[in-house]
Amino acid sequence: MKPTPTKLFLPALNPVHLAIFAFLLAVAPGFSQPGMAAGKDAFAQNLRLGRGINVLGYDPIWTAFDQRRFKQPYFKMIREGGFDTLRVNLYPFAHMGPAPDFTLSNTWWQTTEWIVTNALAARLNVMLDFHEYEMTGKDAESNKAKFLAFWRQAAPHFKNAPDGVLFEILNEPNGKMTPEVWNQYLAEALAIIRETNPTRTVVIGPAFWNSIDHLAELKLPESDRNLIVTVHYYNPMEFTHQGAPWANPVPKLGAVWLGTPDERAAIAKAFAKAQAWANEHHRPIFLGEFGAYEKGEMPSRVRWTDAVARAAEKNGWSWAYWQFDSDFIVYDIPKERWVEPIHHALIPPGGAKTP
Ligand code: BGC
Repeated sequence: MKPTPTKLFLPALNPVHLAIFAFLLAVAPGFSQPGMAAGKDAFAQNLRLGRGINVLGYDPIWTAFDQRRFKQPYFKMIREGGFDTLRVNLYPFAHMGPAPDFTLSNTWWQTTEWIVTNALAARLNVMLDFHEYEMTGKDAESNKAKFLAFWRQAAPHFKNAPDGVLFEILNEPNGKMTPEVWNQYLAEALAIIRETNPTRTVVIGPAFWNSIDHLAELKLPESDRNLIVTVHYYNPMEFTHQGAPWANPVPKLGAVWLGTPDERAAIAKAFAKAQAWANEHHRPIFLGEFGAYEKGEMPSRVRWTDAVARAAEKNGWSWAYWQFDSDFIVYDIPKERWVEPIHHALIPPGGAKTP
């Protein structure tokens, strides 16, 4: 089955889409009209992001829609499971044509629109996260035109989308995307976005894999106050990435996280550092990724996941867990059920958030 070619955010709307769009603007919480205050206040936007999950990065949906693992009912299920936001990990390079236009394929648009439309209908915010960090990290220079071409197409396409749609310019800048290069590229991408999306909230993080320790080198356009700053947290790597084949070196198995005062203090200290930067620069923080790989023992993973999520909330941050499906999973698709211990660590039963 092909995705329904919804053109929700294009000018040519049919009456059914217009009705859905009007419904979303009227009833969805905080899905106010572009130009209203909520769309301009990054702190209010960050509040509504609340608790999120990374989704769809490794899903076959991008090459064969009918073989997708992420099923339509999951949008509502995720919302009912206590989450507010989907961070959609996008790898668009393989779906772009040749230079100079690098035209995104119709199939890619259809799939992306299916995701955005369904997420909004389920009252979830959607962060469109450009996740081509490996390509841009290996060779920032030769991928620059393609990276900018993505935003030159995606930004106007979603310019009429409600405020619940956010753009994240680039996941985890690294390697050749040094702080200096990144500061230049992010300014150019943001300028392209602002041509068509003057009130869209945009998410940007520091180089070195969105590391808290590199916030100091991040330079954001001072006058643009509608930005949320994102960081990732996987420390200690020896625990969260034990047995992860892509880590270098691969941390050995058997590391535990007991939640000792020292272990908790390490999280508090790192987050305090990020929050001090945020206070100084008057920017809200979104913890865009955190998680402990499933080669670690479950009780430790639960303790760590709960500790990190609560520490983020204590600082007033929004967050998104890595990730829904594939690895670090919080939902078991073959068994069609939540991985309860991780789900509960993220969303404590009763749903209470730390004030
Ligand atoms: C990467 C994934 C990786 C995860 C944890 C993400 O940013 O995209 O490939 O599994 O971080 O290491």
